Amino acid sequence: MKLKTLILAAGKGTRMKSELPKVLHKVNGIPMVKKIMNILESLKSEENILILGHKKELVTETLGDIKYVVQEEQLGTGHAIMMAEDVLKDYEGDVMVVCGDTPLLREETLDKLWKKHRESGAATTVLTSIYEDPFGYGRIVKEDGLVKAIVEQKDATPEQAAIKEVNAGVYCFDSKKLFDALGKIDNNNKNGEYYLTDVIGIHVREGERVESYILEDNVEILGVNSKVELATAARVLRERKNLKLMEEGVILIDPANTYVEESVVVGQDTVLYPGVHLQGETVIGSNCEILGDTRIVDSKIGDDVIIERSVVEESIIDAKVTMGPYAHIRPQSHLKEGVHIGNFVETKKSILEPGVKAGHLAYLGNAHIGKKTNIGAGTITCNYDGKNKFNTTIGEEAFIGSDTMLVAPVEIGDHALIGAGSVITKDVPARALAVARGKQIIKKEWKKK
Ligand code: UD1
Ligand code: CA
Repeated sequence: MKLKTLILAAGKGTRMKSELPKVLHKVNGIPMVKKIMNILESLKSEENILILGHKKELVTETLGDIKYVVQEEQLGTGHAIMMAEDVLKDYEGDVMVVCGDTPLLREETLDKLWKKHRESGAATTVLTSIYEDPFGYGRIVKEDGLVKAIVEQKDATPEQAAIKEVNAGVYCFDSKKLFDALGKIDNNNKNGEYYLTDVIGIHVREGERVESYILEDNVEILGVNSKVELATAARVLRERKNLKLMEEGVILIDPANTYVEESVVVGQDTVLYPGVHLQGETVIGSNCEILGDTRIVDSKIGDDVIIERSVVEESIIDAKVTMGPYAHIRPQSHLKEGVHIGNFVETKKSILEPGVKAGHLAYLGNAHIGKKTNIGAGTITCNYDGKNKFNTTIGEEAFIGSDTMLVAPVEIGDHALIGAGSVITKDVPARALAVARGKQIIKKEWKKK
């Protein structure tokens, strides 16, 4: 049997109270609609078609290459699906509809829903679950185990409102029967909208069978309509990610306070302390210690690295580096094996060869620093003249005295020594000593005068 999916993502999300279209709000680092697309990946669907409307350019920018149809005016979920009628008119097979605001669905669930749909031969199969407090969801009206109707909150009678089985907003339809029934729905309801859920009542009236697949874990069907639900969804995804990390051998001191985005990879026996944020396409090796309040974004960290209370962005940190507290590694830095970066050191677009030490209070920008060189406290590469950036090159095993200004472009040779407090504007040859500072003057018994 063939399958295509339709993803409902045209709504504004009024209840979110936001300028951003609802489906672009992020849950644990991923826009909700992107998360849905990831979930759909494992399904053997021939095609995933999005239904976009409100600020659709923003959505296509975020998702890149996607197939979509446009719903210019948001007249309801049923109306939204009608927009796909043209692209599906010659298609014979199943259509799965998923909402763009249910990011907690599991891949297995969609698989099982489709399986049940195929095996039962129903016209439609609805994903449902039981909620103690079903408020806000469409209620599943059943007779003899079969679905007879879905009634929205606002349209429900008190008896219907008491029903605890709710609509997840995920359905498998027979494509032809879906569009037949959609042609017959109206907007005679409290919202004045064309409800996709009315398809069920029409099926039943025409003698078709509608089945349900009831999920035990109702958290999966959480629909994000407000910022409160957004926080709930994000927390659940974080918990799932943290659980997976621990199962893979990562140590989390306090999982509830560890923030690891979905795409991040962490090696075995690495310890993540409370307050750590690992974001984007970050990969962390094994046996590392990442301590409190560190944020690492889109970076690659080797094995046996220790990072304390620091920020690392778009950089590469090789094995056995030690860093922090309070270091800031800015984009395009590469700290090679065994480099030591101490407190209040900033690097940007710099390569530090193995064993370089910059223990305190330094700025290293557009620099290449040879192996085992020591950078004294307060060293600054003056790499910017207000218009252009210039490079600083320092050789191997050099010693840069404290409070040195290296005015780029400048080159310091291997084994060179720079006296503390120097302002270096000219190249220094290998093995030379350079001192460039005012001479100290002593005036004896100055106080008496
Ligand atoms: C919908 C269901 C409800 C179900 C709930 C599950 C209907 C009528 N109701 O309600 O039974 O329990 O989901 O979460 O379907 N959208 C469009 N175009 C529109 C309107 C909505 O694309 O004209 C999209 C939205 O962007 C969203 C999805 O459809 O991704 C669901 O819309 P939403 O308004 O959140 O529906 P609910 O009221 O939550
Ligand atoms: Ca919703």
